[in-house]
Amino acid sequence: MNGLFITATDTGVGKTVVACGLARALVESGRPVGVFKPVETGVPTTLAAGPDALALQQAAGGGQPITTVCPSRFELAAAPWVAARAEGHDIQLPDLITTFHTISAQHDPVLVEGAGGWAVPLNATKTIGDLAAALELPVMIVARSGLGTINHTCLTVAAIQAANCNIVSILLNGPFDPADQSANQNAETLRSLTGLPVENLPWGDPQPSLKRIANELFPIRT
Ligand SMILES: Nc1ncnc2c1ncn2[C@@H]1O[C@H](COP(=O)(O)OP(=O)(O)OP(=O)(O)O)[C@@H](O)[C@H]1O
Ligand SMILES: [Mg+2]
Repeated sequence: MNGLFITATDTGVGKTVVACGLARALVESGRPVGVFKPVETGVPTTLAAGPDALALQQAAGGGQPITTVCPSRFELAAAPWVAARAEGHDIQLPDLITTFHTISAQHDPVLVEGAGGWAVPLNATKTIGDLAAALELPVMIVARSGLGTINHTCLTVAAIQAANCNIVSILLNGPFDPADQSANQNAETLRSLTGLPVENLPWGDPQPSLKRIANELFPIRT
C-alpha cells in the first residue's frame, strides 16, 4: 500500500498543514495523489464541507470528490465518537476502509489525515489508531516543538509501535518561543529516546521542507 497516515500528539498540531504541503509537492511533481480525512468534526451543517477536507481536496489538485476526501463530518467539535453519537450516528470502521480503497484504486500515493491523535475514539471500541493499522499504512507523527513534547511524543510512539505500525518520522512543529529553553534540544532528545528520524518543521513557510520530505518518502520510480 503506497501512502501515509499522518497522526499527531494532539489536535491543532499541524496535520493539515503537513498533509496539504506533501500533497502539493506530489501534485507539482505530477503524481496522482489522493487525500483522505476519514472524519472531520466541528463542521457546521451550513457548510458543504469542513475546512480540512476542502484544504486537502485543493492541495491534491481539486479533482477528487469531496465525498471521498471526507465521508463523515459532524457538527460537534469533539472526538469523532462523541460528535457522531450526538447525531445518533455510529461510525463504522469497514465503511472508512472501503472509502480508502476507493481512493487508492485511483490515486497513488494516498495521504490520510487522522482526527486529533492516535487514541481518539471513532466509536465505542475502535480508535483512529485501529483505522491506521487496518489501512496498513506507515505513520508520520506531527508533534509540538516546545516544552511537553517529549512526554506526548514518547507516549504516541509507544502506542503506535504497540499496534505494530511502522513510524517513518516525527516532525516537530510550532512557533519559535525564545522563553522555551527545551525547544532547541527536543529533536535531538527524541531522536535519542526513540531511534526514529526527527526534524523541526519551519514555522511560517514549511513548504520547502515538506517538498523535500515528499520526495524522500515517495521517490519517483523510473
Ligand atoms: N509550520 C507552520 N507554519 C505556520 N503555521 C502553521 C504551521 N503548522 C501549523 N500551522 C497553523 O497552526 C494551526 C493548526 O494547524 P493544523 O490545522 O494543520 O492542525 P491539525 O493537526 O490539522 O488540527 P486538527 O486536529 O484540527 O485537524 C493552523 O492555523 C495552521 O495554519
Ligand atoms: Mg487538521
